[in-house]
Amino acid sequence: MPQPTPTAHGLEGIVAADTALSDVDGERGRLVLCGHDAESIAPTATFEDALFLFRVRRLPTQAERAIVAAELGAARVRAHAFVPALGRSLDLANPMDGLRASVAQLPGLPSAGESVEDHATLVAAATAVFAAAWSRRRAGAAPIEPDPGRGHASDYLRMLGIAPIAAVDLRARALDSYLVTVSDHGMNASTFAARVVASTGSDTVSAVVAAIGALKGPLHGGAPGPVIDMLDAIRTPDLAEAWVRAEVAAGRRIMGMGHRVYRVRDPRAAVLEHAIERLEHDGVRSERLTLARAVERVAERVLAERHAGRALKANVEFYTAVLLEAVGIPRELFTPTFAVGRVVGWLAHVQEQRATGRLIRPASRYVGAAPGA
Ligand code: COA
Repeated sequence: MPQPTPTAHGLEGIVAADTALSDVDGERGRLVLCGHDAESIAPTATFEDALFLFRVRRLPTQAERAIVAAELGAARVRAHAFVPALGRSLDLANPMDGLRASVAQLPGLPSAGESVEDHATLVAAATAVFAAAWSRRRAGAAPIEPDPGRGHASDYLRMLGIAPIAAVDLRARALDSYLVTVSDHGMNASTFAARVVASTGSDTVSAVVAAIGALKGPLHGGAPGPVIDMLDAIRTPDLAEAWVRAEVAAGRRIMGMGHRVYRVRDPRAAVLEHAIERLEHDGVRSERLTLARAVERVAERVLAERHAGRALKANVEFYTAVLLEAVGIPRELFTPTFAVGRVVGWLAHVQEQRATGRLIRPASRYVGAAPGA
C-alpha cells in the first residue's frame, strides 16, 4: 500500500510554482526583485519603476519611466471615474473591506480594445485611488481628483488629503522606497491566493480581490497598525522590556517580529529603516525611530530566550509602521497602502500563473468520521 504523504500544515517549504518575479533567501536575508537586490534599488526606484520591472523584467530608461508615469496617471483618472459608483463600499468601516469591495467593482478582464497591460495598470492605479477615496469618505470629505502629472506615490499622498504637508517630495521618495520594497515577496499568502484564483481560469480582478482578503489578516499585512499601537503603549525605551515580557508571558505575539521564511532579520526592515534615516537626515523628523529601535532590540532578546531554536527578528512590518507614520499616512491606512505596493506583484503573478495553464489543486487528508461510524 502507498504510504500517505504527511500533511504539510501551513505548506511551509512546499514549492508551488516556478517564478521569475522574486526570490526570498530566508537564510541569508536577501530579497531579489526580477534580478535586482531590493536593497540596491529601493533607495532610488519609484512605484512606476516597479510596475515596469515586473512587466518587462528590467528597469526602465528615463524615457520609459516617463511613459509608465503618464500611463499610470491616466489610469488613476480612469479609476477615479469609478468612485461615484462605488456606493456603500466606501462606507465599510474596515479599510481593507472598503478596498476589497471597491476593487471588486472594476471590470474583471480588459474591456473591448483595452490591452492586458492597460487593464493591469487600471487595477494598480485603482488600488491607490480607492484606498484614498475610502480615507476621504471616512473623514467626511469629498474624494480628491488624481493629478495625472504627478508620480504615483506623490499623488497618493495628495489624494489622501495629507498634502500640502511639509517636504511632500521627500515623503513621496520615502513612500516610493516602501512601495518598491513590498512590491513582491515570493509565495506569500496573498500572492498564493491570487495565483490559486488565476489558476482556475478566473479573471484578474477576482484574483486581486482574493489577495486583498488575504493581506488583511494580522499574520500577513495587518501587523503595522498594531506595531504603532505597541509603540504607543510602550511610550519610552525604558518601558520596553517590561511591556514585551508581559505580552509574551500572556501568550500574545509581538507584532512586527518573526517570519515564516527569514531566519535572519528581514532585509526589508533594513531598507525601510534606512529610508526613515534619510527622511530624518533631510529634516522630516520621525518621533518613533529611537523608540522602535529600542523595542526591536528588547523584543529580539526576549523572544530569543523563549524560542531558542527559532530566530524571531524584525520583519518588514516593524519599520513599515514607523515609515508610513513619518510619511503622514494614518494608521488605519497602513494595510491598504501595503496593497498599493503589492498589487504590482499580484498582477505579475496572475500573468505568470495563467501562462502555466495549470490548476492549483492540492489534496487534503480526511480525518472525519467514517460513514456509518
Ligand atoms: N511574538 C511572539 N511569539 C512568536 C512570534 C511573535 N511575533 N512569532 C512567532 N512566535 C512564536 C510562535 O508562537 C511559535 O511558538 P510555539 O513554538 O511555542 O508555538 C514559535 O515562535 C515559532 O513560530 P514560527 O513557526 O516561526 O511562526 P510562523 O512561521 O507560524 O509565523 C508569523 C510567522 C509572521 C505569522 C509570526 O512570526 C507572527 O505572528 N508574527 C507577528 C505578526 C507579524 O508581524 N506579521 C507580519 C509578517 S511579515
